[in-house]
Amino acid sequence: MPKILVAYASADGSTAEVASAVGRRLTSLGFVTDVVDIEFKPDPTPYDAVIVGSAIHNGALLPTAVAWVEARKPVLESRRTWLFTLGFGPVLRGPIGGIFRRMVPPDVASVQDALKAEEYRPFAGAFSRPPERRLRVLIWLLGASYGDHRDWAQITDWADSIARRLG
Ligand SMILES: Cc1cc2nc3c(=O)[nH]c(=O)nc-3n(C[C@H](O)[C@H](O)[C@H](O)COP(=O)(O)O)c2cc1C
Repeated sequence: MPKILVAYASADGSTAEVASAVGRRLTSLGFVTDVVDIEFKPDPTPYDAVIVGSAIHNGALLPTAVAWVEARKPVLESRRTWLFTLGFGPVLRGPIGGIFRRMVPPDVASVQDALKAEEYRPFAGAFSRPPERRLRVLIWLLGASYGDHRDWAQITDWADSIARRLG
């Protein structure tokens, strides 16, 4: 059975919970899976497959995730890799939100390229009303609503699809 690393970067915990759910699902399907916070700089060398997850802030993965991928690019290029993010994307609505919903932010696309990820999956995240007026206006313009939008069935299905491809 391939050995899998789920390496995640999370500012407020919602990405960490998604990474744990993906890891639990893969473990239940018989894979040896480690779920590690990128802050701990996990070494991907002993793994056959690596799933990288990060919250999106200001259109990019968290800086710790970007730095970790950059520093380990040669190893990651020789592993099977997947990328997921948590953000507003899937819950954007309205004329402006609709345009952005279909876009992969350029900074996210460049990490996907660096990883040579087999698939990038943007999940809806959890976010509350920010104190900054600038951000509130942006969220309103994009048609996103506050709350926890994580779709656990969709997250489990994604883990299952990775299992099928590795199995
Ligand atoms: C300061 C801040 C900036 C954010 N910027 C973006 C963004 O540019 N694009 C996006 O899709 N989501 C953005 N989000 C939404 C978060 O990424 C989302 O809520 C995610 O679930 C947070 O993950 P975490 O709990 O693991 O930190 C932002 C959230 C915060 C708090």
